[in-house]
Amino acid sequence: MLGRDDLLEVLARGALTVEGRLVDASNATLLAMAALDDVEVMCVYKPTAGERPLWDFPDATLGLREVAAFEVSAAAGWDVVPPTVWRDDGPFGQGMAQAWVTPPGGGEMEPGGGLVDVVPRGAVPAGWREVVEAHGEGGKPVTLVHADDPALRRMCVFDSVVNNADRKGGHVLHGLVLPDDEPATYGVDHGVTFSEDEKLRTVLWGWAGERLDDELLDDLERLSGALEGALGDTLALLLTRRELARTQQRVARRLREAAFPLPGDGWPSLPWPAF
Ligand SMILES: Nc1ncnc2c1ncn2[C@@H]1O[C@H](COP(=O)(O)OP(=O)(O)O)[C@@H](O)[C@H]1O
Ligand SMILES: [Mg+2]
Repeated sequence: MLGRDDLLEVLARGALTVEGRLVDASNATLLAMAALDDVEVMCVYKPTAGERPLWDFPDATLGLREVAAFEVSAAAGWDVVPPTVWRDDGPFGQGMAQAWVTPPGGGEMEPGGGLVDVVPRGAVPAGWREVVEAHGEGGKPVTLVHADDPALRRMCVFDSVVNNADRKGGHVLHGLVLPDDEPATYGVDHGVTFSEDEKLRTVLWGWAGERLDDELLDDLERLSGALEGALGDTLALLLTRRELARTQQRVARRLREAAFPLPGDGWPSLPWPAF
């Protein structure tokens, strides 16, 4: 049976073959197959050469940030990012490779993973959190909502720690990265993370300012320790010293406040369109 470590090994060392381009992607985001011995896994391969330059992030660093985001998720025990590795030798040069999330039962991936949605005003599903009221197509009144779900809570805290500037609904997926896994909720597209400046932009504001439960606080303690040790050493190869220091500060702040993040001012806190 294929486990997480095998998956990481196939992604890191397997022969990469590009199968196609993801159509709704803003960068050169490719669907690829990684093959090692007789094991094949589907993955997303984003060559650095295909990165669209951004005014607020240094060039050719987005793929490194995606790997750093995975390392943080893994060290905290959150498993909110599909296994992601750095490749020096991809078919279009260096870049990141990330395990593909397959929807449960195959078929099309539902953007938002069934946990984030835009619904007609007044039709908020029971127990879901309202984020913002807006006007949708044709000026129809709508509400952006998300489920009150433990995996999304972890993702929200994860985003605040990595300073994710792009948690759209479409970057929340529900599915499997290994055939024998239970379906789980994953976040993807973590290229615009770890800025030195506050840039948290997300659809997951449903718990803003609420107290963090003890489990998430324990996870943050674990993360804080990891940043002082092996995780810090790994991130030092992927981020600048200041970006790493800022990450430590954001973890410390979450622990000090013991609360979900609140939107800051001076930076748009909601991605719009939300998907
Ligand atoms: N690991 C993945 N598994 C399954 N689908 C993915 C994965 N990564 C991305 N996708 C899908 O491909 C789309 C484009 O990928 P994304 O990482 O958002 O690229 P870009 O950086 O170009 O916006 C995502 O919105 C999502 O639907
Ligand atoms: Mg995207």
